[in-house]
Amino acid sequence: MEGRYISWQTILACFFLLGQFLWVRADVHYYDFTLKEMNVTKLCVTESILTVNDLFPGPVIRVHKGDILYVNVTNKGDYGITIHWHGVKQPRNPWSDGPVFITQCPILPGSYFTYEVIFSEEEGTLWWHAHSDWTRATVHGAIVILPKEGTTFPFPKPDAEEVIVLGSWYKGNLNAEVNDAMANGSDIPHSRGWLINGELGDFANCSSETTYRWSVNYGKTYLLRIVNAVNDDQLFFAIANHNLTIVGLDAAYIKPIATSYVMISPGQTMDVLLTANRPLGQYYMVSTQFLTESAYMNMDIGSAIIEYTGDYNFSSSPIFPDRLPEAKDVEAAMRFTGLIRSLADEDYPISVPLNVTMKMFIVVSMNYLCRNRTYCDDPTAHKIIASSMNNISWANPTVDVLEAYYGNISGYYTTDFPDRPLVMYNFTAKDKDDDVAITDEATKVKVLNYNESVEIVFQGTDVIGGSGVHPMHMHGYSFYVVGMGQGNFNNETDPLTYNLIDPPKANTFIVPKSGWLAIRFVADNPGVWFWHCHFDRHLSWGMDTVFIVKNGETEETSIRPPPSDMPACIFSKHDISIRKWDDNNAGDDQDYL
Ligand code: C2O
Ligand code: CU
Repeated sequence: MEGRYISWQTILACFFLLGQFLWVRADVHYYDFTLKEMNVTKLCVTESILTVNDLFPGPVIRVHKGDILYVNVTNKGDYGITIHWHGVKQPRNPWSDGPVFITQCPILPGSYFTYEVIFSEEEGTLWWHAHSDWTRATVHGAIVILPKEGTTFPFPKPDAEEVIVLGSWYKGNLNAEVNDAMANGSDIPHSRGWLINGELGDFANCSSETTYRWSVNYGKTYLLRIVNAVNDDQLFFAIANHNLTIVGLDAAYIKPIATSYVMISPGQTMDVLLTANRPLGQYYMVSTQFLTESAYMNMDIGSAIIEYTGDYNFSSSPIFPDRLPEAKDVEAAMRFTGLIRSLADEDYPISVPLNVTMKMFIVVSMNYLCRNRTYCDDPTAHKIIASSMNNISWANPTVDVLEAYYGNISGYYTTDFPDRPLVMYNFTAKDKDDDVAITDEATKVKVLNYNESVEIVFQGTDVIGGSGVHPMHMHGYSFYVVGMGQGNFNNETDPLTYNLIDPPKANTFIVPKSGWLAIRFVADNPGVWFWHCHFDRHLSWGMDTVFIVKNGETEETSIRPPPSDMPACIFSKHDISIRKWDDNNAGDDQDYL
């Protein structure tokens, strides 16, 4: 009897110790997300928006590096949704990645799904957002990833932190309007203002009462965690009279950049140090559009107020930034972007692949689509606006690619996504053959072997006058940005300019207007991973595709088994927004490329 008692004790003690050990290594967090409609008043109008837990922006998730997170998502809204953990690599776990019809089918109204989010090497700031239709406009929030317990930042510990979520505001029900626009060929919805932490600020109608305010103490240093959650635009961001020191991009540390403004792409996140060392007073932080297309220009200013605490007289209105670039200042945007380099020191080493085994050359372009080739031959007939990669405009399948791949179900995708364009032409020339404007819709994926060293050169075009930047985003991976330039990529000379020493590591990075971007990564995360332009209009129009990364030889290098409760795929083509815009009534294409 006694022996048995002791052995139970021993077992319990072992469990306890093991628990302690695991606790130190990886904390496990549980969050509940309830999606439902909520009323908010903006621009003098009360509207209903889909939110998480009645918060806009949604709840901030806080973890340490390497933790595990379970988020139970309950959908009490009106349409099917999914959630994506943007920038979280999710080793071997595509099941919880989220993009609709890529790794799962929608969580229908009235049902729920629990995501398992596995953090690994990410440290800094990331974010989560809906990844179905255009719901992410209001369904998004920040993810704060602190250094592992017992370790610290690669810079002096800030006195406090502040999350800044930059968003865009749309009038009416954006999701419904997008679906209507796709069905009727009406104009794409445009943002009506820029939000900082859910508020438009002092320069928008009926908004100054609720402007976001942040109080700072003189002499303290703050870590700003900035998320660009807007749907369709690049932004400039600045704080009046204060220097910003950028120390992180997409949850990877960079060499500090001291600057008066940043340019941030939709999808990107930045960690920024700010020292409150200016005369006591009030200062604006602002976000404005950075525009490279001939598209819709939005002159709105999103604003929030930084106020110093203490006893002082400050009677004028808050001070406005005087060094904010203008909307079309490409030079200012690229100058800032060109400064970004990985920290790449002893404590934060990087490993850029040097022997590339898979080279892809991907032309990212705006196009016209000739569904059934019906409009192709008649130049006066109306055409459907689309976008493509290597002249394939992505079409969502009705069973998600992951389920079809894992279950060996044929008929939903093919594996012949081309490594290079079938037709080479002068991509960035102004006058081109009409032929190159026509694209085809298909569900073609690219299959990679486990551990392949991949290089992709993205090449922008000026097809149909649609040159502009494309913030390319990859799921399941961060990539090294080894090169970037203007005009057509030159296979011989441009690789000589690559930075293989301290290139930035990012999950989203812009292909310059009428230029190219070269990235590298090692395909060491088996799964089904979406990659796409992070402008929602280009995403909807088809500038997206999928990597299937095959399993390695062992269990540790293979996709994990699926959870038992993946949402079922019970759709017909008919229920899903698979259409592209039809510009029949939409006026000039140039308004919305
Ligand atoms: Cu921010 Cu495909 O995602
Ligand atoms: Cu794009």
